[in-house]
Amino acid sequence: MTQTQSIAAPYTTTLRDGRAVTIRPLAEEDRQALHNFGMALPENDLLYLEDDFQNQDIISRLINAHAAENWRQVVALDNNHIVAYGAVRQLPGWFSHVGDIQLVVSDAWRRSGLGTAMAWKIVGSARDLGVKKIIVEMTEKQTAGQAIFQRLGFNVEGNLQKHACDRSGHLHNLLLLSYHIEE
Ligand SMILES: CC(C)(COP(=O)(O)OP(=O)(O)OC[C@H]1O[C@@H](n2cnc3c(N)ncnc32)[C@H](O)[C@@H]1OP(=O)(O)O)[C@@H](O)C(=O)NCCC(=O)NCCS
Repeated sequence: MTQTQSIAAPYTTTLRDGRAVTIRPLAEEDRQALHNFGMALPENDLLYLEDDFQNQDIISRLINAHAAENWRQVVALDNNHIVAYGAVRQLPGWFSHVGDIQLVVSDAWRRSGLGTAMAWKIVGSARDLGVKKIIVEMTEKQTAGQAIFQRLGFNVEGNLQKHACDRSGHLHNLLLLSYHIEE
């Protein structure tokens, strides 16, 4: 089996609370499920997420990119319901050796290890993309995300003051966490 096949192969994992999810690449037929996932996200998450998962145009952009060469998008499913989304996108031009991560888990599925399982999968996908450095950005308040990525070996490389503006217009300090992939 090639590395690409193993990264793309769906698999089922049992979480700490006994529930099982299937983790696989985002597919074209996931449009409605991804929209439903976005609509169910807590208000607080929507303030900070880079992509607006409630916006149909954004959902279309993500779905249309499901097979893009520079992007790996992964979802976790409970039956046909998406309960987590993760992605790594290879940046353009000067930054083409850098992969940028996004990760969000449904409120009702948190604290059971799903975020960590998705983060592992996304870091594997970043290696598959061939990037040399992986970054993830989040506000100082997003402590769960910091815990996950620091446990995976990411370090805080930057703290940009008042750099993120949430949807209600409030400014937040933005942390840039990074991981360098060894040659
Ligand atoms: C960050 C996020 C993905 C974590 O998902 P999750 O499924 O709860 O993650 P896990 O269960 O694997 O938790 C991993 C660790 O994070 C930490 N953590 C999780 N939730 C936490 C919380 N509310 N407060 C403090 N630490 C928390 C814990 O150390 C936890 O490990 P433990 O349960 O063994 O103690 C989820 O909270 C989320 O989607 N948040 C909104 C989006 C976001 O912040 N994304 C990260 C930046 S891209």
